[in-house]
Amino acid sequence: MVARIIDGKVVSTDIKARVTKAVRELKENGVQPCLATVLVGDDPASTTYIRSKQSDAKEVGITTRDHRLAAEFKQDELLELVHSLNRDHEVHGVLVQLPLPKQIDEFEIIAALNPFKDVDGLTPYNSGMLQSGMGLLKPCTPSGIMELLHYYRIDVAGMDAVIVNRSNLVGKPLALMLLEQNATVIICHSKTKNLGEKLLNADLVVTAVGNRERFTLNAEMIKEGAIVIDVGTSRINNKLVGDADFESVKQKASWVTPVPGGVGLMTRVMLLKNTVTAASIAKEMSR
Ligand SMILES: NC(=O)c1ccc[n+]([C@@H]2O[C@H](COP(=O)([O-])OP(=O)(O)OC[C@H]3O[C@@H](n4cnc5c(N)ncnc54)[C@H](OP(=O)(O)O)[C@@H]3O)[C@@H](O)[C@H]2O)c1
Repeated sequence: MVARIIDGKVVSTDIKARVTKAVRELKENGVQPCLATVLVGDDPASTTYIRSKQSDAKEVGITTRDHRLAAEFKQDELLELVHSLNRDHEVHGVLVQLPLPKQIDEFEIIAALNPFKDVDGLTPYNSGMLQSGMGLLKPCTPSGIMELLHYYRIDVAGMDAVIVNRSNLVGKPLALMLLEQNATVIICHSKTKNLGEKLLNADLVVTAVGNRERFTLNAEMIKEGAIVIDVGTSRINNKLVGDADFESVKQKASWVTPVPGGVGLMTRVMLLKNTVTAASIAKEMSR
């Protein structure tokens, strides 16, 4: 079997067009969607992510605020900035780029965000809503994966899904979303016993390790016809790669996402979609 490609470019372009239209409609109704990003320090990867998020937003007509703060910025100063963005009626979405420097208590900052502006979907309120099956602003990477499955009409109901990742950003929220769609989900991580056996039984494998030396998925590790969603990103000889050995996995899977060109593009566009949702919520709440 040669896998069909789950093309993040096609799906993200489709969603981007819908977001652009929604932004136009909000503007016609007097609401200019606005995303504020907050970056503490000058980590090169985080700086690149913020640059892309800013330019993606501008491309669809969302205005942006770009808060860049020194690496030594203090907890109470950052809290004050978050509170002021929460209060600002012209700002609809607030994104605090993670990870934050060591002196900052990440949980306290995220928990301080107004949940209706929480476009990363990481506040305790939004996590709880997701767990209750009523998620509104959901984490971008897992909801992007669900959009990919939906677009290609891949029905996960009844499937055995294995997720290799247990982070708040990827594995945990994705497990809830797959469960909601009636998959049976196993969350795996670095301490999981018999990972190989679990992978070989899976109809759907989602891998998000990001370190090819620690974990590389190849054809021998999956069952014939499995669906493979590759979230991980790392570099080999300066080339961006996923967790999966794409050429190998492609020979045995039924569907596979490429890296680049898969989940990463979806993560980016889902942030725009969440910002539009946040602007719509603000509009409703102001009535
Ligand atoms: N494409 C995108 O849009 C996108 C979005 C988000 C993240 N990512 C990428 O996804 C990867 C993970 O991101 P993250 O923020 O979730 O990082 P993370 O918190 O470090 O997650 C890595 C996960 O992999 C597990 N792991 C590590 N070695 C393993 C092994 N040998 N066997 C099984 N599991 C193992 C870890 O287990 P423990 O919990 O036990 O340590 C952890 O759960 C990174 O490459 C990141 O760049 C991509």
